[in-house]
Amino acid sequence: MTARVALVTGGIGGIGTAICRSLAQAGHKVATNYRDAAKAEAWKAAQKADGFDFTIVPGDVSDAASAQAMVEAVVAALGPVEILVNNAGITRDTTFHKMTALQWQEVINTNLNSCFNVTRPVIDGMRAAKWGRIVQISSINGQKGQYGQANYAASKAGMHGFTISLAQENAKFGITVNTVSPGYVLTEMVRAVPEDVRAKIAAQIPVGRLGEPDEIAYAVGFLVAEQASWITGANLSINGGHYMGW
Ligand code: CAA
Repeated sequence: MTARVALVTGGIGGIGTAICRSLAQAGHKVATNYRDAAKAEAWKAAQKADGFDFTIVPGDVSDAASAQAMVEAVVAALGPVEILVNNAGITRDTTFHKMTALQWQEVINTNLNSCFNVTRPVIDGMRAAKWGRIVQISSINGQKGQYGQANYAASKAGMHGFTISLAQENAKFGITVNTVSPGYVLTEMVRAVPEDVRAKIAAQIPVGRLGEPDEIAYAVGFLVAEQASWITGANLSINGGHYMGW
């Protein structure tokens, strides 16, 4: 296989860490971003103890100038970004009639505007190189909606609209653009859902359990492989059967 330069946004989080590790295990050079330097250094040290050497750069994906500087730092450290995983995301769950403008904007800026902010500085390099892999980490709740998540569901549905447009524009440049839509995976984000609500959600999953971060990372590895060159514009649901729309 060809070793590539990969940027995974939000790599310090639950699913992000699994994606970073899986791409590194496949032989790629992997970078991620951070906003909290102390937390990032602790994460990097813990990964190093497990044998992973990740490049970490400062960057806030919700801010265009910060995202641009983040990409430039990765390019300076490792070379042009060939694999981009737009994974960074947040929740601000509340029913819409209680939602503040800030709760709406924070989620849209971090989950959706980040796709513009981070992809825009890497796309020209991928087009020039005639090779690229872009994966959006969306959500089951962008596909089916969720009580208490009008902001999050809108941002996650928007990510796939971004995917299918970019896929069309860049197909002839050897760039594939796909979405992965995870269901409820055991991460801090899902642990933050109140226990009783979480138990009700888990009971709706046909496979009978929440997902593991590695089960999402496996799909990302599949989509960014050299052999996946004819898969573009897809939205891969990985949710234990929780939502089977097509
Ligand atoms: N369907 C119908 N009614 C529901 C409901 C649902 N799914 N969920 C809650 N309700 C009802 C409650 O039964 C309650 O009804 P009563 O008032 O009649 O008792 C009412 O809604 C509560 O509404 P409130 O406006 O008072 O809401 P709240 O302040 O109690 O909080 C909530 C509501 C924030 C939505 C809370 O239920 C919650 O956190 N839900 C989980 C949301 C969720 O799934 N988030 C996913 C986070 S993980 C993630 O996002 C990762 C991923 O991609 C999957």
